[in-house]
Amino acid sequence: MSGTRRVRTLVTGIQTCLGEALSLADRLEALADQVELPEPDAPLAGTGTRPTDQLHWPDDAWHTGSSAAQRVPIALSAAASIAREQAPALAGARWSAPAWTPVRQAGLAGHPTPGEPVSAPEVSVQGVSAPGVPVQGAAERHYRPGLWRVGRVIVPPLLPGGVAAEVPLAVSLLDGGNLRIVVDRDRRGEGVGVVRGLLTRVLAAAPAGSVRVIVYDPYELGAGLAGFAPLRAAGVASPTLTTRTRLEGVLAELSAEVGRITVDRLGGRFASLREREAAGLPRAEPWRLLVLLAWPSLADDAARALAAVAAQGPACGVHVIVLAEEGAAAPGARRGHDTLAHAETLWLTDDGGNRPAGDPGRPEGDRPSWRCSLSGPLRCDLDEPPPPDLVAAVAQIVAAAAAHEAARPPNARALLPETLWSFDAAGGLAVPVAFGPDGPVTLRFDDDTVHALVGGQAGAGKSTLLLDVVYGLAARYGPDQLRFHLLDFKEGLEFAQFAPRGDDPFVLPHADTIGMDSDREFGVAVLRHVRALMQRRALAMRAVGARDLRGLRAAQVGTGWPRIMIVIDEFQVMLTPLDAVSREAVSHLEVLARQGRAYGIHLLLASQTLSGIDALDATAGKRGSIFGQFALRIALRTSISESRVLLSTTNEAAGALAGVGEAIVNRRNGHPAGNELVRVAYPEPALLATLRASLSSANVSRTNVSRAAGNRPPKVFVGHAPALLDDNPLFRSLAGTPAPLDRGGPDRDALDPGHQDPGHQDDGEVAEPLALVGVPLDLHPAAVGVRLSPLPGRNLAVLGPLRREAVGVLHAAVTSLAAQAGPDGLGVDIVAVTGEMAPVADILAERVRAFGQAAEVHPPAALRRVLAQTSDAVRAREESALAVGTGPQHGPAQPLRLLVLFAADAGRGVLEAKDPVSRRSGLDDLRFVTRRGPVQRVHLLGWWRGPGRLLDDLGPTHRDDVGAWIAVGVPGNDLFSLAGNRSVTAVTSANRAVLFDRNGQAEARTIIPFAPLQRQVDAR
Ligand SMILES: Nc1ncnc2c1ncn2[C@@H]1O[C@H](COP(=O)(O)OP(=O)(O)OP(=O)(O)O)[C@@H](O)[C@H]1O
Ligand SMILES: [Mg+2]
Repeated sequence: MSGTRRVRTLVTGIQTCLGEALSLADRLEALADQVELPEPDAPLAGTGTRPTDQLHWPDDAWHTGSSAAQRVPIALSAAASIAREQAPALAGARWSAPAWTPVRQAGLAGHPTPGEPVSAPEVSVQGVSAPGVPVQGAAERHYRPGLWRVGRVIVPPLLPGGVAAEVPLAVSLLDGGNLRIVVDRDRRGEGVGVVRGLLTRVLAAAPAGSVRVIVYDPYELGAGLAGFAPLRAAGVASPTLTTRTRLEGVLAELSAEVGRITVDRLGGRFASLREREAAGLPRAEPWRLLVLLAWPSLADDAARALAAVAAQGPACGVHVIVLAEEGAAAPGARRGHDTLAHAETLWLTDDGGNRPAGDPGRPEGDRPSWRCSLSGPLRCDLDEPPPPDLVAAVAQIVAAAAAHEAARPPNARALLPETLWSFDAAGGLAVPVAFGPDGPVTLRFDDDTVHALVGGQAGAGKSTLLLDVVYGLAARYGPDQLRFHLLDFKEGLEFAQFAPRGDDPFVLPHADTIGMDSDREFGVAVLRHVRALMQRRALAMRAVGARDLRGLRAAQVGTGWPRIMIVIDEFQVMLTPLDAVSREAVSHLEVLARQGRAYGIHLLLASQTLSGIDALDATAGKRGSIFGQFALRIALRTSISESRVLLSTTNEAAGALAGVGEAIVNRRNGHPAGNELVRVAYPEPALLATLRASLSSANVSRTNVSRAAGNRPPKVFVGHAPALLDDNPLFRSLAGTPAPLDRGGPDRDALDPGHQDPGHQDDGEVAEPLALVGVPLDLHPAAVGVRLSPLPGRNLAVLGPLRREAVGVLHAAVTSLAAQAGPDGLGVDIVAVTGEMAPVADILAERVRAFGQAAEVHPPAALRRVLAQTSDAVRAREESALAVGTGPQHGPAQPLRLLVLFAADAGRGVLEAKDPVSRRSGLDDLRFVTRRGPVQRVHLLGWWRGPGRLLDDLGPTHRDDVGAWIAVGVPGNDLFSLAGNRSVTAVTSANRAVLFDRNGQAEARTIIPFAPLQRQVDAR
């Protein structure tokens, strides 16, 4: 070959070398026309064009003439420079280069720092999320993949005897094209080595978790890429496909993904994801590499799917690497892999292909050598495969970093509004709580999606999501726009942060009810209350002719009518077991779910399990009629079967969620077509602290400006918390007169026009002293008790073995009566029937005296005497009443006299003994006092450690003389006869008692008994 021709050939070869060659050629032409050429070593700037525009060796390459011999060094320099720029750091560094040292070290150390860049700084990227989970925002994502080194292109000497030059050979993949590697069957291992090298570079250089790999290997079953095994657990690589059938399944999925991305992301506006990203939109999709370690013979539709993936995939970040065998088709026939679109080819050849004789790249001897479609006839030296320790280190680091990324919650700050309370709730509520492929995901509670259902297994992030919603809404809407009823049926105290606790006085200004570790009865009471609010709204709407909340608000400008949201965590607890409580809960839920829309009442219910809720399944159609109203579903990680119940029978998507906080948001009643994959925000404690401070100060300013309604403190219910008499609002309001009759319920909107707090006494009706015993599992009133009217049966017995509860009830009952008594209006005799009861008897006497009333404590031995004196006192009062002649009500008001017996049943032996003179026993006196005392305002309050003991003491004819009792730790069955032969379903346990009052609600009900009083406590 002549010198001129040799030069010409080389120039052409180098010009087409690497992906940049086409534009480089233009530049070189321009350069050639200039008088001054740059120094050969001077790097040329990158052209910025796509690295691998489709270039193939031009057939006339060997014949085009050029005299520009001096261009060769320039072209070489330019090519090398481009390779350096486009394949920087780990994308282009040789395996022995220092750039890999930190990777090796981290791998050796065995504890890579997840999230730390494993690559050189210029290619390290933060802010990319876990596989399949959207990125947080465009601003955080800067990674732009370029080329990936596979070896070198050898440029033979220009003149005989000269020195060969070399240029790095790099191919494009991510956002570039596909790759085909063609080898002889017996040299397949080399091809696999090339793949191994490429994967090592790609995984190490791209952000952790941003690349996903699928391998098909029917020959070696993944052995050649086994070093990447740790990536499987992290979800970066899927298990190796070894059969054609499985590959066909994956191809169907991949082509569907490509279709989805093409339509949803590119949408006709962008040619590729890369272009979309350049326009400032989040990338939102991982790169997917399909590695076929054999060319598969596929069924027609699968072959079409593969062709489609190859053709359209690169624009969508989906790329195919194929390792094919040279001899797979008859000579001259078109081989299957020839059809792979957008593919550069690396192939091993031993004859220089169809190149003319004298091919400068032809190797010595017969040894096959590599060629690349990018470098034409020039011989390529491909790099050795990466050393196994390096593969292992990369796999380990990337797996750890991907797992870390998967666990890294998105920042909730971006979801909060710039200004507090700047939204109007007339048309509905909206709150962004998560991040999806296109940025923040907003949940709406409006006419279309009125209520929401949240599901997910334990620890999946349900409560966190509820907190996101509550804080997010509280930040956007003022307390006059939105009121919350927050109920938690779990022992966890998620909602405790909305009520004052310890030294943190924060109260969520929007909260009307906060229930923690709630009892089912309390939950039902809240639902009943909100239902009553709904009825009031219906009346108000009728009055102004409004059809919905918006109309009502428009008709009554400035009067409030906030939206009401009931948030219930673990609501299924309220609906299990199937009993009166759950039936009532279901009926309220059903009505609120069906009618809430018009009245601005929204339900947000969360549960670990929706299957097996008896109360819903017991009545056919209840489940449908309630949950059919919940268009908005948010499914966190759960089982496939729960996913079907929570979303819809055909929707198993929540079963495939991997990480905490990953969720499917579905606004179409769970229909699979409505699935949106999101990542729920996790609010940092510092962020919440700031928000809470802002909410508090905004509320202070609000209430300073106008004595805004709705600023009353929330009703806080903590299931396991003791009821403290001294903190009880009703007890604290007592001031020497009987507690007022309860005329009003709480069933009014805090912001309802004309609202007044209930509690005023009705004219004409005189209240009797109320012995407070505990707190109802209800919203109202603040305490419950037994009215000690001058009527038969008005005695109070505490029954059962729980000492703490029993003492607390007697303490509270007597102390609260002391607080209601006028001057010298009360006299109390307290008998500690066992010596052990003396201290609690003393405390009680002390508290009574603190109210200026008389109290005396008697030792066990005095029981008989005190009973006799009390019955004498009753008799005396009867006589004086008879003397007046018109009965006690018309005589001067007798002071209330109480006989209090601690551990009354312990006195049984003493009471049975008859007085030798009068032939009266203590039991006779006891029965006399209980029967005749109340009418004379002498009442017995005592603790028997079991219902049977009281009944024995009273005898069969006197059981009705104790008309009110409180059971502490007694099974319901044992209360049957005392409750007037009615079964008692209310439960007693620690901190729970059952109150029965024949003159009150004739139904036994569960209450929280007041805790025992302590010594030295100031009464007021
Ligand atoms: N969106 C999130 N992002 C990151 N971590 C989260 C997220 N949500 C929850 N977590 C983590 O998971 C833990 C459990 O979350 P959470 O209590 O919300 O789950 P849950 O589903 O309510 O659990 P349980 O069923 O036990 O009540 C949280 O303490 C938090 O550490
Ligand atoms: Mg929870």
